[in-house]
Amino acid sequence: MKELKIVTPILSVSYDELSDSDRRLVDAARKMTYKSYSPYSRFSVGAAILLDNDVVVTGSNQENVAYPSGICAERSAAFYAGANYPEAHFMAIAIAARGTDGEEITDPISPCGACRQALAEYEQLAGHDVKVILAGHDSIYIVPSVKSLMPLAFIDFA
Ligand code: THU
Repeated sequence: MKELKIVTPILSVSYDELSDSDRRLVDAARKMTYKSYSPYSRFSVGAAILLDNDVVVTGSNQENVAYPSGICAERSAAFYAGANYPEAHFMAIAIAARGTDGEEITDPISPCGACRQALAEYEQLAGHDVKVILAGHDSIYIVPSVKSLMPLAFIDFA
C-alpha cells in the first residue's frame, strides 16, 4: 500500500504585491461583479481571463428563475473566450465577488466543480498552466494552475 499526497500550492498576496498584469485582471474581475445578474442569490461574481493574444475576456454570473439554467462568472467568461477567440489560449483567470451586503467578500471564493472542469479543459488546450487568481478584499490567493485546484481531473477519454 502506498499513500499518495496531492498538494495545492497557494500564494497569499496583497493587491500591491501583484504584477501589473495580474492587477489588471483582478481590477477587471472586480469591475465585472457590477454586471452580474444575480437577483436570486444576490451574490455577484466577476471573472476576467487573460488570453495569449493579450485580450482580456470578462464575464459575470447570470442567473435564471429556473435556477440550474444560470451560469457562473467563470464559465460565462471562459465560454465567451472559447466562442470568440477559438485560436487563443488561456494564460490566467481572476475571480472576484461581492456578497449579499454588496461588499466585496473578505476571503476569496474559489470556482465551483463545474467551472473547474470547464477551465481544466481550456488549460489542457493551452498546453501550459493557467494561473488562477482568487481575489478577496483582505487577501488574494494565487494558485499556479487549474489542475492544482482539481487534481485527478477527468480531461480525456481516449
Ligand atoms: N457563482 C459564480 O459565479 N462563481 C463561483 O465561483 C461560485 C458561485 C455564482 C453562481 C450563482 O449565481 C451565485 O454565484 C451563488 O451561488
